Amino acid sequence: MSENSASFEARLRNNAAAVEACLVGILGDQAQPDEITRPQPLLAAMRHGLLNGGKRLRPFLVMESAALLGGDPAAALRVGAALECVHSYSLVHDDLPAMDDDDLRRGQPTVHIAHGEANAILAGDSLLTLAFDIIAAPETRLADRQKTELVLSLARASGIGGMAGGQALDLAAEGSTLDEAGITTLQAMKTGALIRFACEAGAIIAGSADAERQLMRQYGEKIGLAFQLADDLLDLTADAETMGKATGKDAARGKGTLVALHGKDWTQTQLARLVQEAAALLQPFGDRADILNETARFVANRSH
Ligand code: IPE
Ligand code: IPE
Ligand code: MG
Ligand code: MG
Ligand code: MG
Repeated sequence: MSENSASFEARLRNNAAAVEACLVGILGDQAQPDEITRPQPLLAAMRHGLLNGGKRLRPFLVMESAALLGGDPAAALRVGAALECVHSYSLVHDDLPAMDDDDLRRGQPTVHIAHGEANAILAGDSLLTLAFDIIAAPETRLADRQKTELVLSLARASGIGGMAGGQALDLAAEGSTLDEAGITTLQAMKTGALIRFACEAGAIIAGSADAERQLMRQYGEKIGLAFQLADDLLDLTADAETMGKATGKDAARGKGTLVALHGKDWTQTQLARLVQEAAALLQPFGDRADILNETARFVANRSH
């Protein structure tokens, strides 16, 4: 590992620890104003789904994008934590028997295995709702206008035209033959939309001009595609212990992936191209964008 990527991974880990601490505080036992009680079995299932490791890449992107553009770090941490709630919910539901039917996630039994299916479904529902609570809450110190923009962008990235819609396309495509455009669309939705939101959120938090916000969106789209390409490649090449989740399942279930369509070499070439395209987008920022460039390389070359 190069010195750069070692220090990058240390930065990612430090950031993950800050996100974890923020999420632990939010998922306390105490009911919040206007909540009546926090039922323990549901809280336990939510904690299992949320506080069990994970790279915390999406919050990292929110925070580093905000840092590049001059956004407040404390607000970026809370928005990153909110996004991690949506992402973790998506994984809890992705693993359900009706979806990918997986037993292992982040090196532990999946939420439905440990807490039962009903609690897993409700934990997902509650994590999704909690994300919008975190953004809107007074502890997130942003102007109302910024909060509204974040809520709208996150809703669009998560729902029918984003992550959830992409998951529907992913399941519908099992065993059928999607072409490259079809697979790219489904991946841009199921994975890309939340990653694009992460980068755009940095610009919203910083109150950036429209042109910068567009640039961050485009950068997010590139690395979002790269992220799922790498995930699909790792499903083929990595083992469950390294990944903390089952591998080798996409081919078995006939998932529509570009790796299945074009093979490993094509995928590697495509990943390298996406990293270059991301770097070209960030050029106006000069070396202030070093970390986001390093992030693009990490996303494409990651081993877990
Ligand atoms: C896994 O996401 C699901 C995909 C979108 C491919 P991550 O690889 O970010 O999972 P964690 O959060 O680190 O466990
Ligand atoms: C999941 O894609 C994407 C979302 C959860 C939205 P995968 O099904 O490939 O993710 P893993 O491989 O189970 O983490
Ligand atoms: Mg899936
Ligand atoms: Mg899955
Ligand atoms: Mg996968």
